[in-house]
Amino acid sequence: MAKLRIGVLASGRGTNLQAIIDAVETGEVEAEIAVVVSNRPRALALQRAMCHNIPSVVIRQPDYPGRVEHQVAIAGLLREKGVGLVVLAGFDRILVPEFVRQFPFRVINIHPSLLPAFAGGLHAQAEALSYGVKVTGCTVHFSTEEVDAGPIILQAAVPVLDDDTVESLSARILEQEHKLLPLAIQLIAEGAVEVAGRRTIVTRSQRGD
Ligand code: GRF
Repeated sequence: MAKLRIGVLASGRGTNLQAIIDAVETGEVEAEIAVVVSNRPRALALQRAMCHNIPSVVIRQPDYPGRVEHQVAIAGLLREKGVGLVVLAGFDRILVPEFVRQFPFRVINIHPSLLPAFAGGLHAQAEALSYGVKVTGCTVHFSTEEVDAGPIILQAAVPVLDDDTVESLSARILEQEHKLLPLAIQLIAEGAVEVAGRRTIVTRSQRGD
């Protein structure tokens, strides 16, 4: 069977992209990274792709009349590359419906909180800390037209410690992100994730692991 082709959208340092690259290279994720797309020419994520001979493309929003045109251009490239799953790994743009509708339940995102808590912003870890929750974590979910509100695929909990700073908490959440995102991609590649209304049903791998 042909491998799932994934397109990764990343705007920043790309540690989640790196986790995916590593998992593909070890065979833990049976998929191929067809392309990495960034809206930021200086994103470290682009260097990571280059180091692993993964095609990467910069598509900057200022080069287009607006958000819709920018994202339609990204969607066009992903289609050209035969991408079957779009992975948002620190992509700093809110997706427009014109993008999401082209890949129904074929776009996933990683968010650094246990959704629906601390949705929507860029500072979920700081919000968790200042709210005083004792447990936070990360969520991989399908992206729909509503921000951070699509069906949840996987979540991992991370305790908030009394002496946590935003940095220490973010680092512990990130460790979990690096496990959760590749796992979600593998489950999707195996056909083990079904969407049932608001929920997903994750069936175990046919290989029994
Ligand atoms: C992560 O915290 C992720 O949860 C959020 O953006 C950050 C990306 O980090 N969506 P990195 O670029 O993958 O290191």
